[in-house]
Amino acid sequence: MSPGEPEILILPTAADASEVAARRIAAALTAAVADRGVGHWVTTGGSTPGAIYRDLAGPGLVDSVPWDSAHLWWGDDRWVPPEDVLSNALACWDLLLRNVPIPLDQVHPMRIGEALAAGVGPPAVATQYEAAIRAEHLPLDPAGFPRFDVILIGVGSDGHLFSVFPGSATWDDPSWVQAVPAPSHIAPHVARVTLHPRVIDATNLPIVVAHGTGKAPIVGRIFGARASERDLPALLARRGGALWILDEAAATDLPAAVRAASVD
Ligand code: 6PG
Repeated sequence: MSPGEPEILILPTAADASEVAARRIAAALTAAVADRGVGHWVTTGGSTPGAIYRDLAGPGLVDSVPWDSAHLWWGDDRWVPPEDVLSNALACWDLLLRNVPIPLDQVHPMRIGEALAAGVGPPAVATQYEAAIRAEHLPLDPAGFPRFDVILIGVGSDGHLFSVFPGSATWDDPSWVQAVPAPSHIAPHVARVTLHPRVIDATNLPIVVAHGTGKAPIVGRIFGARASERDLPALLARRGGALWILDEAAATDLPAAVRAASVD
């Protein structure tokens, strides 16, 4: 069966792309809360989410989100203390969570700081994080993975998403959350904890955001001839129902037919 194609939006600038992403996340959470009384958002790491956090916490959007019924999760995090600049949670605390009225028991960072203090490793945090997700009783997809309402995804220059790198062993382990050894081919070279890539299949709305010329080659490759998801994990989000939000610079290498079907 064909996985279908995502909606692709191409915005003039990175700031425009971030603003649209923030609006879509806000709308997805609002719709989920209207529908089921709760909205589950998985965010990402790297440099992409910072401006999106600022927009969500800004005057135009902050009051539109039903924060008291929202849950925030992370798709992956790095094996560093939460106050380390490499932590995927740090920017979120600084730019979003300090500034929005989300109940703290609905914010679900990976417990890496506690694990470091206790001297336990990434597998323990992965097990604990899966238990935390299970405790919220999200609906499951037919393959048994949790259906988050919206997932924000960044793409690495090698085509990884979350901390699922090309050739990742995560596919062969059905655990929802897994420990990942430090990648040697891409920085930062620290161990990670990541959600299973099949969580992308299960989610209602995967939103991929990519901006800058540095992302153009990998975005072009993802929308070229279909390859194996194991070799190019970001292909998981090249499917119907997903949304890609690019700026002009990141869209430079899109095949002409894909570009023609996108929305400027
Ligand atoms: C991480 C990530 C990772 C990230 C991409 C894009 O912890 O590294 O969550 O999947 O989203 O590498 O990173 P940038 O936003 O920095 O381009």
